[in-house]
Amino acid sequence: MSLLSDKKILLGITGGIAAYKVADWVRALRREGGQVTVVMTESACRFISPLTMAALSGNPVHTGMFSAEAPETIPHISLAREHDLLVIAPASAQTIARLAHGLADNLLATIKSYGYGVLEPDCGEMACGEEGPGRLTDWENVRQAILTAFAPKTLAEEHVLITAGPTREAFDPVRFLSNPSTGKMGYALAATARQRGATVTLISGPTALTAPPGVQCIQVTSAVEMQTEVMRCLDAATIVVKAAAVSDYRPAEKESHKVKKGQAALSLPLVANPDILKELGNRRQRSPLLVGFAAESRDHLKEGARKLKEKNLDLIVVNDIGGTETGFATDTNRVTLLDRNGAQEELPLLSKEETAHRIWDSVARLMADNR
Ligand code: CTP
Repeated sequence: MSLLSDKKILLGITGGIAAYKVADWVRALRREGGQVTVVMTESACRFISPLTMAALSGNPVHTGMFSAEAPETIPHISLAREHDLLVIAPASAQTIARLAHGLADNLLATIKSYGYGVLEPDCGEMACGEEGPGRLTDWENVRQAILTAFAPKTLAEEHVLITAGPTREAFDPVRFLSNPSTGKMGYALAATARQRGATVTLISGPTALTAPPGVQCIQVTSAVEMQTEVMRCLDAATIVVKAAAVSDYRPAEKESHKVKKGQAALSLPLVANPDILKELGNRRQRSPLLVGFAAESRDHLKEGARKLKEKNLDLIVVNDIGGTETGFATDTNRVTLLDRNGAQEELPLLSKEETAHRIWDSVARLMADNR
């Protein structure tokens, strides 16, 4: 199962230099399981060849109103019926004006009012050498918009607070204790929650990732900073998901200058960090709904069940970090979901985004029980 499997996407390309970038999007959509049919305007064909788009999409490209091969079909009707989503990129001013029926003074506002999703151009250097708004937006933004169009809106009324990534516990200005978490699972949860209609706040330890579009991201470094931010954002949240790999301990002292070789004692005294999730579990009544993670290298179900109970959670995502395709720094995960009602769901090996969707499905069921 891929995120776009069974989805039929019609890609309209209009005349703009960015047409060449869209060629790559066709491959990306197919990699996600989507079926792509391309429609090109006459001027688009001057920027990129229909042959290229036919080869990349694996389908004939439509460039006119009538098809020589199948004259009985009228493409402007059949294409609309046969596809789930229309993406127009790049969208030339001419095309936007056509969509808006031409005579509006703010064409983008007009087509938005018709219900079109509009991804505004990015700022930067353009092919003509000018700087400004006009660059085709990044594929990642387009990808998120397409996935949003298809995602069930199970979190439309919810404000989701997610923690992600590792924490770093410094013992001098250049050294710290940490773990190999890359934040991928937490960021996938943030992106998919947004796709499902939630307002999302992501509190992230240091990672190399970019916050998903439409997600408010707060950067923190240590467990204590993460705790402060979680508590500050808690009142607004209806669901809290603690995907962060929080360091359980921090150095008892932090030196203000770099510790020199030969100067250091060969042991590092530690003190315990707050268990943020346990604190949340202890203080809440029925709300917010609380989801934890358990990273385990052995007895994972037993340990997961223990943490579910001890931290007073609604759901725990148990991660067996023993395998090579699961856990830290991978794009895939194999987890078991245990909920407060005793249900146990073992998920197959999935991408972290697909895993995130399955977690939101469970959350939606638990939210429905609460009502
Ligand atoms: N967690 C937390 N604060 C901590 C430690 C963990 O909020 N100081 C949260 C994690 O974000 C995760 C859950 O608690 O959702 C379980 O984390 P894990 O590291 O698996 O377990 P620990 O509680 O640290 O227990 P142990 O180290 O004994 O496995």
